[in-house]
Amino acid sequence: MDKFVITGGTALRGEIAANGSKNSALPALAAALLTEEPVILHRVPRVRDIRTMERLLVDIGTGVEVDGQTVRLHTPKIVSPEAPYELVKTMRASSLVLGPLVARSGRARVSLPGGCAIGTRPINLHILGLEQLGATIHQSHGYIEAVAPEGLRGATVYFDRITVTGTEDLLMAAVLAKGETVLRNAAREPEVVDLADLLIKMGAKIEGAGTSTIRVQGVERLGGAEHTIIADRIEAGTFLVAGAITGGDLTVTECNPEHVGALVSKMQQAGIDVTQPDATSLRVRSTGRFRSVDMTTEEYPGFATDLQAQYMALMTQAEGIAIVVETIFENRFMHAPELARMGANIRIDGKQAMVAGPRSLTGAGVTASDLRASASLVLGALVAKGETVIDRVYHIDRGYEKIEAKLAAVGAKIHRAE
Ligand code: EPU
Repeated sequence: MDKFVITGGTALRGEIAANGSKNSALPALAAALLTEEPVILHRVPRVRDIRTMERLLVDIGTGVEVDGQTVRLHTPKIVSPEAPYELVKTMRASSLVLGPLVARSGRARVSLPGGCAIGTRPINLHILGLEQLGATIHQSHGYIEAVAPEGLRGATVYFDRITVTGTEDLLMAAVLAKGETVLRNAAREPEVVDLADLLIKMGAKIEGAGTSTIRVQGVERLGGAEHTIIADRIEAGTFLVAGAITGGDLTVTECNPEHVGALVSKMQQAGIDVTQPDATSLRVRSTGRFRSVDMTTEEYPGFATDLQAQYMALMTQAEGIAIVVETIFENRFMHAPELARMGANIRIDGKQAMVAGPRSLTGAGVTASDLRASASLVLGALVAKGETVIDRVYHIDRGYEKIEAKLAAVGAKIHRAE
């Protein structure tokens, strides 16, 4: 298993480019199941979760050709409308094939995800929504089986709580349903908007993506399309924190500043200088001294739960006490005890973490528990005295493409060890 070896204490300087968004590319890949024509996606990050989704699509019947960050997908026929446990347990976003499979072939068999490092993460809202669109659903042997032999029909789906992949799954189901579907309390994340943009290019009729009410007029068939995935706001945000925590001067290029607005606002309140040199860049300049600012995670446009761990690493270096509240997932503080091993002063009480800073961190052996937790350990290590060895970096490889090479190019002392 790979490890990262990081020697902290170097301020990061220069330019670092954001990749295409993993969480946008995943539903876009699944959307290729909706048509027998080719779908070409550009700016698909070459990370492990994307490879997992590509494997799943190949098993289902999609021809997948990868050329750098361009992926050509072609599904003339659904061969096996199934997502097996072996894949779903490694990546919960596999459930994104549920909606498109039922919509295209009237049948899907998808493993239930089971437990996860950050919370229970059920898919009951995906299932309820599909039932409202007329699918019949049975659960047995750890799988759910959805059938709609006569096709899906439009309906109003009200989400009990906001779900990102649930909204995406239902959107992909609704585009081929008969009549109008209205998704209420829908997720407003940029990734949902990006998926809607792709589906519209494929011939879907969708209004309101990016708001909490999405209206879809079902069409008989969708065609092929070519689409470029949006920038990864979580990767961009992670780099902004890297610049700030190390007291550096870092410009994150090829990003969408609006999508990281909540993080930038918190950083500015903390006294960190963040400016926007042009439409697709953000520059962070920091002396390494800044104030604590409380933060609560929320659905977009609130502060992303996927940046909570990185923000907590930042707050270990801030003057004062920061209260960090996690409202989206019930168990997303696994990074806190690892940061504490490096010297951070963090107390957890249910959904709330109290981070007292600034504490000087020292290098230690730490273990990555999930994707974003791993990113926060990298950030802590970049500012820690001495050497940190992060074990189980396969978690970080799920969502960050060659993060060690990108950080090394702006001055970080980081390398991968087998
Ligand atoms: N929920 C339910 N029932 C459902 C679906 C969700 O109770 O049927 C609950 C979840 O347990 C959670 C909350 O609703 O408490 C929100 O979950 P959501 O469904 O929005 O999460 P997700 O769609 O499974 C996506 C991202 C996550 C990100 C969350 C929240 C993808 C592939 N994944 O997950 O990204 O944390 O939205 O923004 O888009 C990551 O990239 O590291 C990551 C975990």
